[in-house]
Amino acid sequence: MGTQAGIQGRDVVTLDTFSAQEIRAVTARARELKAGGFGTPLAGRSLAMVFFDPSLRTRASFAIAFGSLGGTVIDLVAGRDLWPLEMREGAVMDSVADEHVRDAARVLSEYADVIAIRALARGGDWAQARRDTVIVSFQKHATAPIFNMESVLDHPCQAWGDALTLEEALGEPKGKKIALVWCYHPKARPLAVPHGVGVMATTLGMNLSVARPPGYDFDPHVERTMSRAATASGGSVRFVEDMAEAVRDADVVYAASWGSLDLHASPEDERALRDRYRDRRVTRELMAGTREARFMHAMPIRRNVEADDAVVDAPGSLVIEQAANRLHVQRALFQEVLGV
Ligand code: CP
Repeated sequence: MGTQAGIQGRDVVTLDTFSAQEIRAVTARARELKAGGFGTPLAGRSLAMVFFDPSLRTRASFAIAFGSLGGTVIDLVAGRDLWPLEMREGAVMDSVADEHVRDAARVLSEYADVIAIRALARGGDWAQARRDTVIVSFQKHATAPIFNMESVLDHPCQAWGDALTLEEALGEPKGKKIALVWCYHPKARPLAVPHGVGVMATTLGMNLSVARPPGYDFDPHVERTMSRAATASGGSVRFVEDMAEAVRDADVVYAASWGSLDLHASPEDERALRDRYRDRRVTRELMAGTREARFMHAMPIRRNVEADDAVVDAPGSLVIEQAANRLHVQRALFQEVLGV
């Protein structure tokens, strides 16, 4: 079939490395694959997935997408299957780590045509965590393309699947209003999903309204990326505190939760701050202030904590479509990156 998006050989690590045209070309190919057959163009190709953290949707969609296109998949869990990895350049490896990421990445590149990594934050301050050391180290040393299955900073394949869901639900996303609302969660969740969704929405020309309580800003560099993307696309981005203000006249309400960057290294203080906002969840009453908005969430979702059952299970909810579209976009992305 050949490539349509012109992204052959590229890493898929952060969404901001892709243009609106490239994002749209991949979702167009995903729609074609969803509507028709796809054969086995990845026969003889292989995918190595490395998980440092749990996953349902990403693991299943990556493995089934690659396998259904004829390829071979290996699923490696850090702490169970891998030797403990050293990430520091030039380290004297006389402690716990048995293998350097430099060697693991180069060896996996000999076996696999694509390497996919999931590695979330491991505590510490945000300045350190935001370096995304695991995926950046694999990216530096691997010769095969790297796919981000969610890292500290981004979850590009989630956002790409969401772009397809938005196109299917709204038609052209440009000019539509999306409200990204911080909801309470008993754990400090990663910023990867809200970052990815914010970059995707602004790149596609949507009007993004982010509602978050004090202390829950995005990474400043990613906020600037969203502002630049909005300026380039004719969209907009604004940050408010009040959920009702953010969702007013919205076409889409996207619920998410994320931890405080300022308190990234102080989990107890972060919990104390987050607990002040226990009542922030998406209710039917909140949705009533929208333009009959569709509801989105990347899942897993804490029902009746982040959003009420009445919202998650309402006819306007897109949560299952979002999860399903991860598979269709993943088939498209693998074919585009591998040039088949
Ligand atoms: N949305 C998402 O990435 O789900 P998993 O964490 O289950 O993969």
